[in-house]
Amino acid sequence: EKGGYEHFMMKEIFEQPRSILDSMRGRLELEAGHLNMGGVRAYERKFVTADRIIIVACGTSWHAGLVAEYLLEDLARIPVEVEYASEFRYRNPIITERDIVIAISQSGETADTLAAIELAKSKGATIFGICNVVGSSIARATDAGAYTHAGPEIGVASTKAFTAQVTVLTLLAMIVGHKRGTLSDTKLRELMMELSNIPSKVEKALLLNTEIEQMAEIFKDVSNFLYLGRGYNFPVALEGALKLKEISYIHAEGYPAAEMKHGPIALIDENMPVVVIATKDSSYEKVVSNIQEVKARKGRIIAVVTEGDDVIPQMAEFVIEVPATSEVLTPLVSVVPLQLLSYHIAVLRGCNVDQPRNLAKSVTVE
Ligand code: M6R
Repeated sequence: EKGGYEHFMMKEIFEQPRSILDSMRGRLELEAGHLNMGGVRAYERKFVTADRIIIVACGTSWHAGLVAEYLLEDLARIPVEVEYASEFRYRNPIITERDIVIAISQSGETADTLAAIELAKSKGATIFGICNVVGSSIARATDAGAYTHAGPEIGVASTKAFTAQVTVLTLLAMIVGHKRGTLSDTKLRELMMELSNIPSKVEKALLLNTEIEQMAEIFKDVSNFLYLGRGYNFPVALEGALKLKEISYIHAEGYPAAEMKHGPIALIDENMPVVVIATKDSSYEKVVSNIQEVKARKGRIIAVVTEGDDVIPQMAEFVIEVPATSEVLTPLVSVVPLQLLSYHIAVLRGCNVDQPRNLAKSVTVE
């Protein structure tokens, strides 16, 4: 059942080239040059004229929502707010009929997300669901939606569901952006092409496994980790930290790299490992300066960089090279080594990675 892997989590990490492809199947038609999403078609006008999109989710799905904020604002120029479902539902939020609420949930059973949907519905918003489990409560409570088709995810730590969610949200942002006229034919075509290359780039990132396992050996006994990223890699930093804390019980925090100087920099000394996601994108130069700041305080830098980077390897103690891709698609590739790192650290610490203490696969209580 684990397909020869020791844990479901590992199996699911390694399934990603396939699950990402499955989440695009029938939706991205490269040859014909079009994108289809059944659930979007009937609500196309709503999306095109929406004043605002509010995304509600929890945990890893909330991180996918943060990536979607960047995607939808970049490609479709619609203002987006990303909300923890649990906070949203209790603060008398302002919701109108011209809002679209996107609920993201792997299980489709998360109580807080479901309650947020019911609230938004009562105010007349259109609810679009992105779920993995077919026929789940959230899938049934929404007006329309798109399944992620990642296949069953058994490990409590979400991995392939996250990349499938991000893939579906990318397709959504591309479709809506194109319809709104904010994403040109040429740019759309380019992105479609690059998105279809993602499964093989993820495959390539998975080849880092042995190297990352060795790195895990070095860091397995530390008690804190900091994860930094900017732009599209900011949500990835949060996701990397969440993965590590939930399965290895090491305290980890994710931060937007530029926020570091507003507090967390005080934590940095020679005992603090800092994972910096520093791929070649529009914030690259800025992230390089953030690395310098960490280095000046003797922090131990593990940098996730784009293949061929010849600057950061001179500054970081460890470097993880991932294939280059378009900036908006970066999270799909850069999250992979972070999943592997947390997996190996947890295994080396003797933790039950598939069923970490105090956690359940879906949180059906508030
Ligand atoms: O099933 P959902 O996507 O609604 O679950 C949301 C969170 O409970 C979930 O992502 C949780 O944070 C995971 N254990 C993260 O790996």
